[in-house]
Amino acid sequence: MASFTDKVVIITGCSSGIGLATTQLFLSRQAKVFGIDIAPFTAETTKDVPFEFHQADLIEPQAASEAVARCTAIFGRIDVLVNCAGISDGWSSADSLKDVEWERVMAINLTVPVRLMTAVLPAMKEQGKGSIVNVASKAGVSGAAAGIAYTASKHGLVGATKNVAWRFRNDNIRCNAVLPGGVATNIQNSVNMDCFDKDGFSSFFPVVEMHVAKNEKGQPVPVITPNDVAKGIAYLASDEARMVNGALLPIDAAWSTL
Ligand SMILES: NC(=O)c1ccc[n+]([C@@H]2O[C@H](COP(=O)([O-])OP(=O)(O)OC[C@H]3O[C@@H](n4cnc5c(N)ncnc54)[C@H](O)[C@@H]3O)[C@@H](O)[C@H]2O)c1
Repeated sequence: MASFTDKVVIITGCSSGIGLATTQLFLSRQAKVFGIDIAPFTAETTKDVPFEFHQADLIEPQAASEAVARCTAIFGRIDVLVNCAGISDGWSSADSLKDVEWERVMAINLTVPVRLMTAVLPAMKEQGKGSIVNVASKAGVSGAAAGIAYTASKHGLVGATKNVAWRFRNDNIRCNAVLPGGVATNIQNSVNMDCFDKDGFSSFFPVVEMHVAKNEKGQPVPVITPNDVAKGIAYLASDEARMVNGALLPIDAAWSTL
């Protein structure tokens, strides 16, 4: 199990779901964590852990650079960036998509992680080392797992991951992504219901249902926990993965085999 003693780790979306589980896992492995979220951080943290919470709407143009500057001012360096903050779309398709849905989903799921990578790279280059893990999705490599905006945003993030991996490989900076399947989190609350597309949902959801369990009412229940994803993120971020660069790690209970 990798230890992160004295490593400084930025985690976006730290207040909920996968970002929260990742924050708790890194703290339990002795990292110093700088967590960012638009929502308040309400989880119990033990008083003696090195955790700094930064509340910000990362869509704001200066938010990424301001957060990274604050992290550097507090902890002095940046070893790991975990781009986890993200939202779901309303399953809309090319025939129902509204501009507002496209722009919001692309901004949070793609523009923000790219801005954060841009913001941490100078420190990582100066240190001669760094590791970035992007939380993409099965929808980053499949056209059949979400609406058009979410699918395009996660495909974009996969492309950005590979691009950063190759471009900065000689700077000892690695960039990888996890591709989770359905995970029990609060992501459903991020759907803009004004943009919900019933037909799109009916078309894609049977594919999603192929890798979940069912409760006694026959409703789908994800079998993957946020902590399962956090462990994959921690592996990719750690020195144990020092030769893993540009990789896409599915964490989806074999859904990736479809
Ligand atoms: N839950 C799943 O089934 C699943 C599957 C594949 C990938 N993912 C990805 O995992 C990541 C985490 O999602 P989750 O499932 O834990 O959802 P979640 O809703 O539980 O957590 C997402 C967090 O991101 C934060 N956030 C959203 N917009 C933000 C903004 N503008 N600025 C700052 N913070 C913002 C939210 O406040 C929230 O705390 C997302 O990128 C999502 O696309 C989730």
